[in-house]
Amino acid sequence: MRRRIVAGNWKMNGSKDLVQQLVGDIREQVSNLDDLVRSGLDVVIVPPALYVDSVVSLCGAELAAGVQNVSQWRSGAYTGEVSSDMARDLGCQYALVGHSERRQLFDETDSVIALKVARVIESGLAAVLCVGETLEEREAGEAKRVVADQVEKGLAMVGADQWSRVVVAYEPVWAIGTGKTATSEDAQAMHAEIRGVLERINAPSENISVLYGGSVKADNAAALFAEPDIDGGLIGGASLKAEEFVSICRAFP
Ligand code: G3P
Repeated sequence: MRRRIVAGNWKMNGSKDLVQQLVGDIREQVSNLDDLVRSGLDVVIVPPALYVDSVVSLCGAELAAGVQNVSQWRSGAYTGEVSSDMARDLGCQYALVGHSERRQLFDETDSVIALKVARVIESGLAAVLCVGETLEEREAGEAKRVVADQVEKGLAMVGADQWSRVVVAYEPVWAIGTGKTATSEDAQAMHAEIRGVLERINAPSENISVLYGGSVKADNAAALFAEPDIDGGLIGGASLKAEEFVSICRAFP
């Protein structure tokens, strides 16, 4: 059975006080979901890198921690970079790679993203490869081609024995931060397309979790998570509110 995952991407938001309060509240509420946690649900907190150590210290057994980005280099003279080994060293289990904001604002290319996926897996973390089309690409009928290309190129360096450390997150760019969530039908169609790409590249598609991200909220998560090829969510804004984030964790059928 594929792992169910709900990950909260805090983006560049947070403070020492927020970390203490929010992670504490989420952990307390998740510990009441032991039926869900036992069912194989991973609840992941993905704060800004500077707060990862604090988050890990507060996660307990109920939560996991992740980083929002890592360097494509292993170590060395790369000022400002964070390596996947450092993330593992601090107790992280996940690393986001290729988020659309990294692609758009920091010019991350598919080849750099593939290298980052390789570094994350080498370090023993699970790589969450983020893919998604822009509104222009969708309106031009290019969405499936764009997403398929991102999946194939982003996973180009994954070895045959490394697929257990791969997660894909489909985040249509036009749904991120906009309140315009994809319909569960449209999201399911793209997730099925992504599974088709995984099969074409000889990945064990049926064992790879594919998450949806893009304005997931407490009131739309159940419809999304009811879809057969949606294994959870990558949550932005709603992850900064403990009640709503935990409601999303509860939204599985
Ligand atoms: O990585 C998750 C993020 O891009 C989604 O943001 O605020 O639309 O849930 P949001």
